[in-house]
Amino acid sequence: MATLLITGANRGIGLGLVKVYLENQWQVIASCRSPKTASELMSLKEQYSDKISIIGMDVNDQTQIDAAVQSLNGAPIDVLINNAGTVEMEKYGSGAYEKVNGVPIDDPDLRKYDYQQWEDILRTNVLGPARITGSFVDNLEAADHGVVVMITSGLASVSNTWNAGRYAYRTSKAALNMLMRSSGEWLESLGITSVAISPGWTRTDMGGPNALNSIEESVNGVYQVITGVSAEDAGKFLNFDGTTLPW
Ligand SMILES: NC(=O)c1ccc[n+]([C@@H]2O[C@H](COP(=O)([O-])OP(=O)(O)OC[C@H]3O[C@@H](n4cnc5c(N)ncnc54)[C@H](OP(=O)(O)O)[C@@H]3O)[C@@H](O)[C@H]2O)c1
Repeated sequence: MATLLITGANRGIGLGLVKVYLENQWQVIASCRSPKTASELMSLKEQYSDKISIIGMDVNDQTQIDAAVQSLNGAPIDVLINNAGTVEMEKYGSGAYEKVNGVPIDDPDLRKYDYQQWEDILRTNVLGPARITGSFVDNLEAADHGVVVMITSGLASVSNTWNAGRYAYRTSKAALNMLMRSSGEWLESLGITSVAISPGWTRTDMGGPNALNSIEESVNGVYQVITGVSAEDAGKFLNFDGTTLPW
């Protein structure tokens, strides 16, 4: 039976992906920062007791990550989805293009940006997936054709961007794409395929209520794209609808 490991599995797109993989008979290792308060994951555990394991793992905490690796005892991971991510929501609102009274609330003024928050976002969105991928690489190598998915964003597209604001998120996801490309050759040498997939603008806490896609539309698309990934797709920047996004 194929196994998925996913980060940030307790809500939003991560939780939606857990449901889709369980429905499709996968074994799911659902990781999140606080399993005790992950009520929806707990409900899934009641429904799919032998198919899901829930582990506590902050993607910035190497001690927790090492403990999770140990607990797997070398078991293969077929698909790793680096889903956990964060955005400068508290300051600038949910939704990439949110406006208040028609005025965008992103802050384009670099003199006023919250640089501590920017560092925190880079840590979670770039270093987190790097740590997680590196830490579980032996498990991915143990699978027949391991696949690493970086959940990126259309906002990472450099060529599509000429909008001020959302600097932390945009730079973090563009850097994540580069992480996918630059670690991709190393992973390829181990028989592991890495891709970056955007879930599209989705109605979650992060995406906000005005986003275009429901969680179901987003995760069904991401699932289909991952299912179709082969070694020839290594290094691609894909959208949830299967199209290729411009760098
Ligand atoms: N929604 C969109 O429109 C959209 C568009 C493009 C890309 N994305 C990407 O899709 C992914 C999921 O987004 P979402 O919309 O589902 O966001 P969300 O509803 O805000 O959920 C974010 C998830 O990431 C987890 N997380 C944050 N920091 C973490 C850390 N240090 N360690 C472990 N988990 C952490 C959160 O856990 P806690 O509950 O513990 O905070 C939560 O489970 C993100 O990578 C996001 O950038 C989303």
